[in-house]
Amino acid sequence: MPEQAYNTSFVLDQIERFYNITEIARECSVNPSTVHRWLNRQVKLKMIYLERLHDMIERKITTQKAAEEEAGFTFIDLFAGIGGIRKGFEQAGGKCVFTSEWDTYAQKTYSTNFPSDEPVNGDITKIKAKDIPDHDLLLAGFPCQPFSIAGVSKKNALGRPTGFADETQGTLFFDVARIIKEKQPKAFVLENVKNLKSHDKGNTFKIITKTLSQELGYHISCRVIDGQSWVPQHRERIIIAGFREPALFSLEDISLPKKGEIKLSRILHKTDGTEPYLDRDQDKYFNFQKDKVQDKYTLTDHLWAYLQKYAEKHKAAGNGFGFGLVTGNDIARTLSARYYKDGSEILVYQGKKKNPRRLTPRECARLMGYPDDFIIPVSDTRAYKQFGNSVIVPLSHAIAEKIKPLIV
Ligand SMILES: C[S@@+](CC[C@H](N)C(=O)[O-])C[C@H]1O[C@@H](n2cnc3c(N)ncnc32)[C@H](O)[C@@H]1O
Repeated sequence: MPEQAYNTSFVLDQIERFYNITEIARECSVNPSTVHRWLNRQVKLKMIYLERLHDMIERKITTQKAAEEEAGFTFIDLFAGIGGIRKGFEQAGGKCVFTSEWDTYAQKTYSTNFPSDEPVNGDITKIKAKDIPDHDLLLAGFPCQPFSIAGVSKKNALGRPTGFADETQGTLFFDVARIIKEKQPKAFVLENVKNLKSHDKGNTFKIITKTLSQELGYHISCRVIDGQSWVPQHRERIIIAGFREPALFSLEDISLPKKGEIKLSRILHKTDGTEPYLDRDQDKYFNFQKDKVQDKYTLTDHLWAYLQKYAEKHKAAGNGFGFGLVTGNDIARTLSARYYKDGSEILVYQGKKKNPRRLTPRECARLMGYPDDFIIPVSDTRAYKQFGNSVIVPLSHAIAEKIKPLIV
């Protein structure tokens, strides 16, 4: 086959989407450093390797297509973030047919990790429900916003009935509700912070559950679940699941692994020579030559002194604020989207002679239950925000497995 039959640049771009450097090196029987040079376009690819890479890509596409055809159910991923919910539902055999996420950096991480021909759609408020493909399941981790009571009371005063559109208009939950109404999926799964229940003195949760059950006619079940069953992180989230038809289902029936069994040592970089080398991270987070986390994650003297002083001040005033200093034997507090600021909620103890350090983005990925083949194509600041906003993947998977038999 003449070389021009293959577009080298295209083949190199594609191969990176589907395989890591170790896999490519193994298939081509070359050193990983050679693959690095190919991917960085430092050396010309010989025809024999070009053909091999091309075959690898074809094989991957064929397997993916077969998996998609076998998929038991379809779903849409709204407020998709970087795809934490999607990952769990894909692991259960679901096929995503539509995605909406408007943040361009989250879109970058999402489309790098879920390559497909379909673009990630932007602002959901601008998308007509009828333009969304049919699906079995709607998934949404929508931001929590208060509902304005003003509009509702005015309508009540005028003696007009108030439907969900009146009560929820202008919020992102309204967009979830209007899509459910138009598309009538067999089921939905909504995810939110635990305090959705107490938000706006319980009014927000009341309107949401009323809308889903009374206005849209779904049979719903809610449960607060702590991610500690799967990862070393205390992270409570409320899940609301709903079925169009009456179903023998309750989120309470999901049996959770015992909480707190998995400690942080499971996700921290290993400094005893056993840290798995991740081609895509290279030395970004971990120095493989010296077997240690890169120094940039250790707090500066200035920041560490500030955090200690700040915590002291609040302690003296009787407030609870403090940094969370952890070792491998602990469970972390909730990773928040503001972790990039000072990392104070989870600081890794490094002995008396050294300041503590932040988690690296790879450790944050692990803390959220993402496998190590999840690619982090954005800056540390963006990555911290994205993982802090995300959903614990094995939690999503556990829900998916429970729901799957009822919708296929
Ligand atoms: C809590 S995060 C969801 C995270 C996601 N479930 C995950 O696992 O990564 C909410 C997401 O909604 C997105 N978002 C907010 N308003 C939006 C809108 N109008 N259209 C599309 N996405 C929106 C935000 O950018 C954010 O990534």
